Amino acid sequence: MIGKVGLAPMAGITNYSFRTICFTFGAEFAYTEMISAESVIRNVKVNELYFPHDDEKEKVAIQIFGSDPFVMAQAAKMLETKGAWIDINAGCPVKKVIRKGAGSALLKDLRKLKKIIEEIKKIVSCKVSVKVRLGFEKNEFDKIYDTVVEAGADMIAVHGRTAKQMYLGKATWNVRNKGYIPFYINGDINSLEDAKKAMEISGAEGVLIGRGAIGNPWIFSNGNPSLAEKLNIILNHLDFLYKEVGNRAVVEFRKFVTGYTKGLKNSREFRAQVMKIEDFEELKDLFRKYFLSLEN
Ligand SMILES: Cc1cc2nc3c(=O)[nH]c(=O)nc-3n(C[C@H](O)[C@H](O)[C@H](O)COP(=O)(O)O)c2cc1C
Repeated sequence: MIGKVGLAPMAGITNYSFRTICFTFGAEFAYTEMISAESVIRNVKVNELYFPHDDEKEKVAIQIFGSDPFVMAQAAKMLETKGAWIDINAGCPVKKVIRKGAGSALLKDLRKLKKIIEEIKKIVSCKVSVKVRLGFEKNEFDKIYDTVVEAGADMIAVHGRTAKQMYLGKATWNVRNKGYIPFYINGDINSLEDAKKAMEISGAEGVLIGRGAIGNPWIFSNGNPSLAEKLNIILNHLDFLYKEVGNRAVVEFRKFVTGYTKGLKNSREFRAQVMKIEDFEELKDLFRKYFLSLEN
């Protein structure tokens, strides 16, 4: 809603430190990880870790998931001033989420999806967006789009796969933007060139980049950092993460190591070493030594 290229929501990945890194490279907006609406109305304390921080608040949407329209609305109301806008997760294909009628299960029950959007829109004054897939089992995007627009949502983002596909096959960008509300395309966009292509094919005004940014945040600036620059980015990311989660950074950072070391010499051996490290300073030293060995 604010710009063309945003960071897609990814549970366990798009925390404050990673969002910060992506913003420094030019991501124009981002989302929190998905947050359960039920847990919001129960005031579950851990959620506070997920909420946008003051310095990013105007460009980070809070994504919620759930299936009860009134619970979703109440949660949205409680969160509306904590982020830039509220996003509804109607795309998550994970069994645990679908079983509760949430995430992509809403694509099988468009009446409920509509009700959720309507109830939220009734009581919040911020914008409301919806992130969907093409459909649950088959491509029913036209119907989904119409439902989302009729319900009064302010923006729609679509991951060009069905829920059944999970992450298999190639995402399509051939999704028609009827143009009633801002439309963002997502899925397999792994460069700014892809972003341009995806926008041309779909007629979308912008894109969301997910996995392509993991361990590769310079994707947002079309960058190609030198080894020294890469090391610097990694150490910065680690420091941010440490500030955010303390020593848990050592384990959490493992998700980013493959991305950051992709294509580098002896990266497989290096990653195996990283997985054994438990101390934060040791981890930083290991990165320094590895990059020094690459320079030599
Ligand atoms: C680890 C991981 C976690 C994800 N978590 C969420 C989430 O919390 N909410 C959501 O709407 N989508 C989530 N997604 C889906 C992404 O936002 C995106 O739609 C999908 O990865 C396709 O885009 P990409 O090819 O650019 O990664 C997640 C994806 C991954 C890989």
